[in-house]
Amino acid sequence: MDWPKGVDGLAYGGDYNPEQWPEEIWDDDVHLMREAGVNLVSVGVFSWSRLEPREGEYDFDWLDRVLDKLHTGGVGVNLATPTASPPPWFTLAHPDALNTRPDGVRQVHGSRDTYDVCAPAYQEASLRIAGKLAERYAEHPALAMWHVHNEYGSATYSAHAERAFRIWLQEKYETIEALNDAWWGSFWSQHYGEWDQILAPRATQYLSNPAHELDFKRFTSDAMLEHYKSQRDVLRAANPEIPITTNFVFGQWVPVDPWQWASEVDLVAFDSYPSAPDERAEQQSALHADLSRSWAGGGDWILMEQAAATIHSKDGAVAKAPGRMARHSMIHISRGSKGAMFFQWRAGRGGAEQWHSALLPHAGKHTRMFAEVAAFGNTLPGIAHTVEAPVKTDVAILWSPESWWASSGPHLPAPVDYLENVAQIHRVLRDRGVVVDFVAPEGDLSRYTTVIAPSTYVLSEAAAENLRWFTAGGGRLVASYLTGAVDEHCQVWLDGFLGGLTDLFGIRVTEHLPQPSGELRALWNFGAAERFCELVELRGAQCVTQYATGDVIENQPAVTVNPFGEGEAWYVSCKLVDEAWDRLFEELKLDGPGTRGVDVVDRGPWRFVVNHTEKEAQVGNVIVPAGSWAVNKR
Ligand code: GLA
Repeated sequence: MDWPKGVDGLAYGGDYNPEQWPEEIWDDDVHLMREAGVNLVSVGVFSWSRLEPREGEYDFDWLDRVLDKLHTGGVGVNLATPTASPPPWFTLAHPDALNTRPDGVRQVHGSRDTYDVCAPAYQEASLRIAGKLAERYAEHPALAMWHVHNEYGSATYSAHAERAFRIWLQEKYETIEALNDAWWGSFWSQHYGEWDQILAPRATQYLSNPAHELDFKRFTSDAMLEHYKSQRDVLRAANPEIPITTNFVFGQWVPVDPWQWASEVDLVAFDSYPSAPDERAEQQSALHADLSRSWAGGGDWILMEQAAATIHSKDGAVAKAPGRMARHSMIHISRGSKGAMFFQWRAGRGGAEQWHSALLPHAGKHTRMFAEVAAFGNTLPGIAHTVEAPVKTDVAILWSPESWWASSGPHLPAPVDYLENVAQIHRVLRDRGVVVDFVAPEGDLSRYTTVIAPSTYVLSEAAAENLRWFTAGGGRLVASYLTGAVDEHCQVWLDGFLGGLTDLFGIRVTEHLPQPSGELRALWNFGAAERFCELVELRGAQCVTQYATGDVIENQPAVTVNPFGEGEAWYVSCKLVDEAWDRLFEELKLDGPGTRGVDVVDRGPWRFVVNHTEKEAQVGNVIVPAGSWAVNKR
């Protein structure tokens, strides 16, 4: 029960909002969906005010008709609970259920995500509407899957959150003294005498306490997960045969730990919105896909949303070239997604996202875009037989949400871009043709021969032991600067950092030496480092290369390797440029059949090739035209 019921092969479709349109066009919608090869749509994602126009008054008639029509047309329904956007009547009746920003401002309705997961009134109302939907639709033949909420991620710093946070802290620390110790409470007179003195980490005068901030993120992830689970359990009870998920979203602002969440959903669903128009869009798509597959841990996962025709960057949207929508979809499908879904089916006439692209554009069916959408959708059944073959790799990158959250704090020795450090390893390996998994710091490393741990700033004792065990047993570990700088309470690991693993790496890191922005520090025969360097003392490790320049670091070890048990531990004491990582991976003989701009994923007997370049690509016996893709027998 981990796949939309009744959907065979690959899923194709998107968010469908018929309630925004006159009923006359619903038949046309279903007809065009069939023409485009659509077999699954997400319905009701933000429909609360239409489903419950007044408290306790429900209007399901329109939804009955929509589901019946979709079912008759052979389109499955991924039915959402609408809790990501409470109706105006609700927030007016319960203003305390609106979310509060870190600066203490309580938001108002008028957009979406205006809710406080910790507010009892919101929790109750969420369960009520989820229960009504379950009661009415759990046995509906169109129902393929439940989509709880939408993109959990909006944190709240309200009084409700504060109360729940204190309970969470009491469960974690048991005594206020233990909390004070963990948070290093004697600094700046932050020693707490009572639980009630603890606030959410709202805007304060200057830097806030990093341990407090990190615990609040963990708490928020747990609080949102509780909200998800409470709805899931109601839906599950109504019909245990229907899989349940929620769509994960990606961003530093999202205090959700996907490793923990993944085991609570029947399949992982991910919304992929690359943020740059150039080749980084392909890199980011591949990164999103590999993360999603890894979170799913061998289970099913699906690309739940992407934009059909545009890429949204800081400067606004940029049109996707012909074929790029299909290539982005194939990046996900080749890396294990069981489909390609979009936001949204029909472009809206009004509302804040009226200019967001769609499978069916404003100009209708007779458009270049719809033709492309239909052509791709009708191709997918032809490759459905290939998608059960698993994606297998023996190389993994450590993915630590806590390191991402904690190392983005403003108090670090120099700004650290954890995501970029992870993305950099992923992109250099992808350019070398290597498909990677991601793994949690405390996750199962036994499937891998090489694990790369970029700047895993927060390292718990358990995670450190995991890395030690992996290496001792024959694994090859490659870690980079700031690894294990702090423990799970954001307290510095003493006597050489590295999460206490100085014996594993055969070195001590004795100082952090941030370098001026924009100045490269050459490494002997190894490219260069930028911005962040560390001073390393050898304690048994061999020096692979040294810094060629730089105060204090000149001629000091930059990259080291240490045999440990049956394996070896490499340490990169700086932020390398891409070419230097490439040089290191050359040394480690990490390469695969793909090349820069040509994604190749081998799965069982099948070879998926996605050619993003302007030239024909040949990989083994597979020839793929410029800007196209293919799946063939190897
Ligand atoms: C998110 C949401 C969608 C839509 C898209 C637009 O992923 O889930 O409802 O707003 O963004 O980019």
